[in-house]
Amino acid sequence: MDAKQLLPLLYASVAAILVVLAITLTLALRREKEFLTPVPPTSPAFAQRMATAPSAYQEGKAVWNNSACGSCHNKNMKDDMTAPALGGVTERWAAYPREDLYAWIRNSQRLIAEKHPRALELWEKWSPSVMSRYDLTDEEIEAVLEYIEQ
Ligand code: HEC
Repeated sequence: MDAKQLLPLLYASVAAILVVLAITLTLALRREKEFLTPVPPTSPAFAQRMATAPSAYQEGKAVWNNSACGSCHNKNMKDDMTAPALGGVTERWAAYPREDLYAWIRNSQRLIAEKHPRALELWEKWSPSVMSRYDLTDEEIEAVLEYIEQ
């Protein structure tokens, strides 16, 4: 057999490899898209998604998308929008117990009413913009913070 006769075989192998790659990529992209499609945070679909998230970062990304944090906070975490940029937020709350940050995300207005120093500082700068309230678990908040800081 000379080299010329081997060419079709070579072409067929390359084509087969490309097809397999294309299928793998399509499936991966579809999974990613499914994962990021918003579902209500209280739905069984959301609970299922949290349970199967491959990492805290992915879980946090899903929380971010489902809760629409990005409608007020810039997704690049660096520039202000209608709400402050969130990059470095854990640092800005480092002087207080972690629970204070959870409390802020669950109900910022309550923390402002309780005269929490960091909450008052934010309110002074950003009022009358009010942040939405969120019924999120500690774990979900930790995940979204992980996503924010990455
Ligand atoms: C409706 C707009 C809106 C949405 C949606 C929103 N926020 Fe906010 N957020 C604000 C505003 C405005 C402030 C600034 C304080 C204020 O005015 O109450 C803020 C402040 C914060 C802070 C404090 C920042 C700092 O520098 O200390 C954190 C943390 C935060 N938001 C997290 C989140 C997360 C996480 C989500 C999604 C789960 C979210 N926010 C969704 C409007 C929003």
